[in-house]
Amino acid sequence: METIRGKTSLEMTASDLQKQLMGYKHILLDLGTGDGLYVRCRAEQHKERFFIGVDACRDNLRANSRRKLPNALFIIANTQALLTELNGLASHVTINFPWGSLLESLLSSEDSLISRLLSATRPFARMDIHLNAEALVTAGWTLESGADQIECIVNTVGWRTKSHSWMDAHLLRSFPTTWAKRLAFGRDPCAIRLSVQRQ
Ligand SMILES: C[S@@+](CC[C@H](N)C(=O)[O-])C[C@H]1O[C@@H](n2cnc3c(N)ncnc32)[C@H](O)[C@@H]1O
Repeated sequence: METIRGKTSLEMTASDLQKQLMGYKHILLDLGTGDGLYVRCRAEQHKERFFIGVDACRDNLRANSRRKLPNALFIIANTQALLTELNGLASHVTINFPWGSLLESLLSSEDSLISRLLSATRPFARMDIHLNAEALVTAGWTLESGADQIECIVNTVGWRTKSHSWMDAHLLRSFPTTWAKRLAFGRDPCAIRLSVQRQ
């Protein structure tokens, strides 16, 4: 698989990855990580955990992936085909403000990403999905109906809802992703957070 640090891209095998993860009990997978700010901030805060950011687009990742954090890794990949190297690894998944094909694959009840994520996660793994209105409206849903659709799929493919809550401007401002900040200071500062757990 292809990983990135700054401008340099590096091929990594499953056994290289296993070596890097050795000694870490908690592994977080951030899908559609964007510029990787979330992974960088969390990795700086929680040195005892390992954070993996995945995005199809490499250009935005240059600045945050340049930092030499021993507990962070950035992978260039399309989540439409989840990497087998990640099988059984994640104890926690985050999907923050997805759009495009990432969002479509959460909304689709046929071959949903949520179902495919069973292979990348451990039993009882947690997953937090943050959704915003504009992306869902572009995909043909409202914020509420899109969140309900995703929650319904979650609960039919082996995960269970823990909470379904609103985020206001204050919560968005304190959430460490670039997109959360944009929403917080934009015209419609609200989002929905779905927290679920694998059974
Ligand atoms: C609105 S941005 C959110 C970025 C970041 N999570 C944040 O909160 O700032 C959505 C991200 O999803 C990524 N994305 C969309 N479809 C994807 C796919 N199929 N595979 C991987 N990444 C995808 C885009 O490249 C983009 O970086």
